[in-house]
Amino acid sequence: MPRIFPEIPETAGGHRGQPKDVNLIRNAIDAMSELPACKRILSLAAECTKDETIEIAVADTGKGLSPDIADRVFEAFFTTKEEGLGIGLAISRTIVEAHGGRLWTVPNRPQGAVFCFALPLLNGEAEDELAAYRVSRG
Ligand SMILES: Nc1ncnc2c1ncn2[C@@H]1O[C@H](COP(=O)(O)OP(=O)(O)OP(=O)(O)O)[C@@H](O)[C@H]1O
Ligand SMILES: [Mg+2]
Repeated sequence: MPRIFPEIPETAGGHRGQPKDVNLIRNAIDAMSELPACKRILSLAAECTKDETIEIAVADTGKGLSPDIADRVFEAFFTTKEEGLGIGLAISRTIVEAHGGRLWTVPNRPQGAVFCFALPLLNGEAEDELAAYRVSRG
């Protein structure tokens, strides 16, 4: 899968980023599945902040998160889907935090949810590690 924003500098964890990105988008699509097509809006935004962090936001206009659910969505095996495993967000948060980042959610206005994650941009040491990782994978 191509990178969504190819012009953005690589971040820590970039080499393992795709499953997390896909889960956030899959979740957003699922949350809007009961809406008529014209009301389903998926928005992606990316910003590099001054403290050398990149923030990505995935916003939808779906059913959103009630306060009791918002506290639980990052728990492993929490799901409201008949065929969900409930591990997508737990894994995403573990991966992001392992790379010094954060993953969180806020409500979208007037309707829906926004999932955001922030990752530190690569410093020299991390770039060396990534290069070694790529060499080891051939
Ligand atoms: N964008 C969203 N809007 C509304 N609810 C959401 C959204 N994203 C996640 N959720 C809620 O959080 C729960 C947990 O999401 P998570 O991705 O961890 O698991 P899942 O999608 O249910 O299953 P899977 O393990 O296959 O990803 C979902 O079941 C859903 O209730
Ligand atoms: Mg999921």
